[in-house]
Amino acid sequence: MNTTILITGGAGFIGSNFVNWWASQHPDSRIVVLDALTYAGNLANLAGVWQSPRFRFYPGRIEDPTVVEGIFRCERITHVVNFAAESHNDRSLLDPTGLIAANVAGVSVLLRSAAAHGVERFVHVSTDEVYGHIRDGLFSETDPLQPRTFYSAGKAGGEMQVRAHFITSGLPVMVTRGSNTFGPYQFPEKIMPFFITRALDHRPLPLYGDGSQVRDWLYVEDHCEGIATVLERGVPGEAYNLGGGNELTNASLTKRILRLLDRSDDLIRNIPDPRGASHDARYALDCRKAAGLGWRPRQDFDAALATTVRWYVEHQDWWRPIVASEPFQAYVRRFYGPALGSEL
Ligand SMILES: NC(=O)c1ccc[n+]([C@@H]2O[C@H](COP(=O)([O-])OP(=O)(O)OC[C@H]3O[C@@H](n4cnc5c(N)ncnc54)[C@H](O)[C@@H]3O)[C@@H](O)[C@H]2O)c1
Repeated sequence: MNTTILITGGAGFIGSNFVNWWASQHPDSRIVVLDALTYAGNLANLAGVWQSPRFRFYPGRIEDPTVVEGIFRCERITHVVNFAAESHNDRSLLDPTGLIAANVAGVSVLLRSAAAHGVERFVHVSTDEVYGHIRDGLFSETDPLQPRTFYSAGKAGGEMQVRAHFITSGLPVMVTRGSNTFGPYQFPEKIMPFFITRALDHRPLPLYGDGSQVRDWLYVEDHCEGIATVLERGVPGEAYNLGGGNELTNASLTKRILRLLDRSDDLIRNIPDPRGASHDARYALDCRKAAGLGWRPRQDFDAALATTVRWYVEHQDWWRPIVASEPFQAYVRRFYGPALGSEL
């Protein structure tokens, strides 16, 4: 594909995996990354493409119309994938409105410039959490959006911006709703890398409640392929579920991580859940619509989990400086200090 693709949030977890994957799959494509380099953005994630003459990086925020418009004017963008967002549920408890600039207003700014500059295809990366939670069965794309957290409410707001811009301007824009994603380069505040990195250091793992919340896990490479499939073959104005089909309780996930690292379950501490009874119980997706485009997750869950654990074992130079930093330690103290005390 001969394209210039704008990838926002490309220095974060899924965004940087997508940049590296796209560069390997589309060597003729130019790649432009716009990223605010918040605490979750890391230029080290882009080391593999940084020197390429076909790669360009812009620091900046998607909600800044001057920056966004300047990029569309200078770079002749043909395709857009929007990953940029404040992406952490727990952090959104601390600042419920702070994410609205990135997750809602920024989406609108991007869509407006994309429409004005005649972008050919645009994917907005959303989440399965916009549906709320489901005790039995699966969410399909026609189900109502009933978010239950500040993060997922913000993502749902972003989707409403997509809908309004599609109707107003006819911009060929699609939405993906991916499930819990895991793999290399995930910021160590999220449950999987948080527990891997702590278990490596024999530190207790703070598990919310009894750990019975069910999540559907999707390997990051499968998520990238799903987004690319929707970018290439999705129907404008439509949303597509991208689930891994790997439902697991948080408790079961934790035990698998401990087994892979040869650590005992004794490291688990069941701590009070900050969301209490309002914590989403289960997310699960019907992915037949994306399958109709030819996508299905290909990675075996246990093999992908083992690959991920090995990556964190072998890339301690990547995560140790993050974990040792004062902002990260302050976050850990804030969320887990009261329950873990001296075991922190
Ligand atoms: N991680 C998951 O399990 C998951 C699942 C489904 C969907 N998603 C969605 O995928 C996207 C990427 O998630 P992630 O886990 O890689 O997140 P992340 O937090 O690792 O990365 C987000 C990136 O966006 C950048 N960013 C934040 N605000 C910005 C702004 N206003 N302007 C420009 N850049 C900004 C950050 O610097 C960072 O590089 C998000 O939109 C998220 O909602 C994530």
